[in-house]
Parts: sequence; structure tokens; C-alpha cells
Amino acid sequence: MAALTGAGISADSGIPTFRGKDGLWRRFKPEELATPEAFQRNPELVWEWYEWRIKLIKEAKPNPGHLALAELNRMGIVKCVVTQNVDDLHERACTTCLVKLHGDIMTARCTSCDFEIKWKDVPKGVPKCPACCSPLRPAVVWFGEPLPQEALERAERLFSEARAAMVIGTSAAVMPAGKLPLLTKSNGGIIIEVNPEPSALEPYVDIAIRERASVALPRILEEVRKLYNSNKT
Ligand code: APR
Ligand code: ZN
Repeated sequence: MAALTGAGISADSGIPTFRGKDGLWRRFKPEELATPEAFQRNPELVWEWYEWRIKLIKEAKPNPGHLALAELNRMGIVKCVVTQNVDDLHERACTTCLVKLHGDIMTARCTSCDFEIKWKDVPKGVPKCPACCSPLRPAVVWFGEPLPQEALERAERLFSEARAAMVIGTSAAVMPAGKLPLLTKSNGGIIIEVNPEPSALEPYVDIAIRERASVALPRILEEVRKLYNSNKT
């Protein structure tokens, strides 16, 4: 099984989703801030948004959903977790196989040279490159930008080969990530959705678990453990 996660898995750690009712930062939609054009127009504003998000993420902890998924991964039930999230909660939950499609919010890179830095503290203002003085930007994928090629190819392979795709906490509104589970489906597999609300994938979902990830995933883990133990005896 391959898993695709989105902002919903981190919602129970106190990190707002993008398209939920509490998802907006001030009056801006993510599509208005997470673009190269927005950054060019107003880097201060864009960094202010990231500063707020980095602070929330640093204060947050992996929730039982992240932890159960990491355990399913360790057991080999979930071969790999593919995430659209730029937070580090899957890493902190000790997920063994993780593909990050949209980059990493804790890293910044130079807009001109190869310089990269991993934040320990929350950045303030528009940070400058120590090598060339150009502005640094968050090392994340913005709207209109390509996904990291290697990560996308790996994710496509995983979902094409999987017999089941578990889609957790994503609206599946952003491409190409949102259509990865369809690769599983078109190769004869099934789609399992863990989301209190139906996503854009609803017409293709075989099993819908309309529950929060932090509740549903520990229950799934418990059931899998029971099956494992009954097979052993
Ligand atoms: N458990 C599971 N799902 C939840 C929970 C929860 N506790 N709370 C909310 N959700 C669901 C919502 O119903 C919604 O379908 O999580 C989904 C969040 O959707 P989005 O806010 O659109 O987040 P996501 O799908 O990750 O967005 C994709 O858009 O802005 C870009 O790059 C950004 O990676 C992001 C991408
Ligand atoms: Zn530089």
C-alpha cells in the first residue's frame, strides 16, 4: 500500500489546513501567497506568512495519526508515505520511507545561487544569502513551479505498483499530487480515503473512512495488529 498525505493529517497537531474554514492567513488564499510572482511583488509579506507557519510547526508535535502511519510504514503495510506537507511531522514521527513532493518549510534557498540553509530558529524579515546577498526563499514548491523530478517519479512508481492507495487529509485539489492515487486505480488497485469530508477523489474512492486522521489511523493500526497476531497463533 502507498499513502498520500495532505494538510489534514497535521490539522490535529494544530497546523491549519489551506482550504479549511480556518485555513486562511489574514485574507489571503494560498494561491495568492505561494507563487513566485507574489514573492517578487512582496517578499516581506510572503516571509511573514512563512514565519507564522514555521513558528506553528516548531511548536507542534506529531499526533497519533502521524505516529500510527509511521508504525504501519515500519511494519511494511504502508510501503512508503508520499506527502504534500512541507512540515516535518512525518520525519519527527520517525517515518522510515518518506517522499516529500512540495519541499521543506524548514529549509530556505537562495534565489540566485546554490546556497541552502536549514532553520533552527524562526527567521525574521526577508533573510539574505550570506554568499551573494540575494534574498532567500522558502525551499518549497509554489503554484506554477515544477515538483522535484526525482520525488515525483518515485511517487508515480509507488502508486502505479501499489494494490491500494490510502489518501489521508488532502482535498486532492492540487496537481499532480492529487491524481497519484488514480495511478493505483488504473492499475487495478483500490483507493481508501481517510478524511472527514469527501475530497476531489470521491468518485474513485472504494473505501471512505469519514473520520479524523488522528482517530482513524490508530484504529487501522490496531486492526492490522490484531490480524497479525491472529495469523501468528
Ligand atoms: N483528518 C483528516 N483530514 C482532515 C482533517 C483531519 N483531522 N482535518 C481536515 N481534513 C481534510 C479536509 O477535509 C481537506 O480535505 O484535509 C484536507 C485539507 O485540504 P487542503 O487544505 O486543500 O490541503 P492539501 O490537500 O494538503 O493542499 C494541497 O495545496 O496550498 C497547496 O502546497 C499546498 O501542499 C498543499 C497543497
Ligand atoms: Zn546566494
